[in-house]
Amino acid sequence: MRNKNFLWGSASAAYQIEGEAYNHGKGLSIWDEYSKIDGNTFKNTTGEVAIDFYNKYKEDIALMKEQGLKAYRFSVSWPRILPNGRGEINQEGIDFYNNVIDELIKNNIEPILTIYHWDLPNTLQEEYQGWEDRRIVDDFVNYCEILYKEFGHKVKYWVTLNEQNIFTTLGYVLNLHPPKVSDYQRFVNANHNANLAQAKAISKFRQMNIRGKIGPSFAYSPSYAKSENSLDVLAAEDAQELTDWFWLDVYIKGEYPKIAVELLRKKGIEIPIENGDIDVLKKGKPDFMGLNYYQSFVYKSPNTKGEVYKSNNNTVSQKINKQPTDDYFIQSINKTLEVTDWNWTIDPNGLEVALRRITSRYGIPILITENGLGAIDKLEDNQKIYDDYRIAYIKTHIEAIEKAEELGCNIIGYCTWSFQDLFSWLNGYQKRYGFIYVDRDEKSQKELKRYKKKSFYWYRDIIKNNGVGKR
Ligand code: BG6
Repeated sequence: MRNKNFLWGSASAAYQIEGEAYNHGKGLSIWDEYSKIDGNTFKNTTGEVAIDFYNKYKEDIALMKEQGLKAYRFSVSWPRILPNGRGEINQEGIDFYNNVIDELIKNNIEPILTIYHWDLPNTLQEEYQGWEDRRIVDDFVNYCEILYKEFGHKVKYWVTLNEQNIFTTLGYVLNLHPPKVSDYQRFVNANHNANLAQAKAISKFRQMNIRGKIGPSFAYSPSYAKSENSLDVLAAEDAQELTDWFWLDVYIKGEYPKIAVELLRKKGIEIPIENGDIDVLKKGKPDFMGLNYYQSFVYKSPNTKGEVYKSNNNTVSQKINKQPTDDYFIQSINKTLEVTDWNWTIDPNGLEVALRRITSRYGIPILITENGLGAIDKLEDNQKIYDDYRIAYIKTHIEAIEKAEELGCNIIGYCTWSFQDLFSWLNGYQKRYGFIYVDRDEKSQKELKRYKKKSFYWYRDIIKNNGVGKR
């Protein structure tokens, strides 16, 4: 029987919803700068207005209450709190998040606060190249300390870094996110600093005796072998080492996985570990693992036959340098699965695989911090949105959770991505995930009117029933 306190939630991130990007004392983030440059985002969309959550938070939270949401995951914008990344605090920023948190609590919705969802203060990028410099560690912990002091008495669930694997890979390998680099050694360097910052943020949380739970969220796409050919199996093993355990082992065991380290070393890539680092990592053990699950991936060996997967963001693909991992594994196509409008596999069993693998390897509670379907939704003339495909996606994924629970996985909550439609980093406003349709597009913000989709009502019933299955 599922716990009555299961966190049925939904999620978002500051840059994707807030708007007021240049106002109320907020400093610029790397995303404010990046999205201004022609060609970096779909139709050059930015988060300048986004869906104006900054001004509409009460309206949105009222909708959450109507749906019966038990938890809402949102992120704090670092440059809204510290316009220069450190130093002077912007009181208006603190007040805004206090208002959001209070409004949630007043409506019996548990706030889940993400400390960092990619909008690094631009001054830190300019001053010392952000994540690539060790100075980021202390600046990040200082920022965390401010949040713990301000909100620690009322927020019980904290997510440190959102998808460190994605922001480092897309930023330093795939040339798709700021700082738009394709250099594996620089990626490993930036990632190591992020690991230290993450671990120290948890240690600070413990030191300050904050009475809550904290952990990172990780985008986990389980690796499958393209065929029974053992070369493909080894390729999938290597992918798992370098795209999953490379982060999860550090978070939970405080050490890099041996095999991943050797695979990299063979290619001349070294992790810049200094004396004392491992101790820092080991001290930063999380209370739960945040899991963002969208899809599974298939890998083949560079020496076997098979198609190569091509991603399709709305943005033009950027030039990527040859990467050391190319000699180990190549992403291929899973012909057994349907895909979304954006060619992402739809694989609810993959979520069960993810939950089981994490539980078997680490035995840690899991908070599903994101799961959802990005699609092109249509607002009909009768002002309704019939998103049955989203209902089917979420339903089958909740069923997968229920199966994993029956096998002993300890899952404390499930947040869909997303509550409202929002700004998708590389796909403008076309790729929609929400239960709430927000009427705007790339050309115009229109009136940003909110409409409840069919899935809104469906999820309301799931929450009421405490799941899909009979209970
Ligand atoms: C996750 C991020 O990677 O996936 C979200 O945490 C993001 O911020 C979501 O929006 C969906 O990705 P996309 O590219 O479809 O918007």
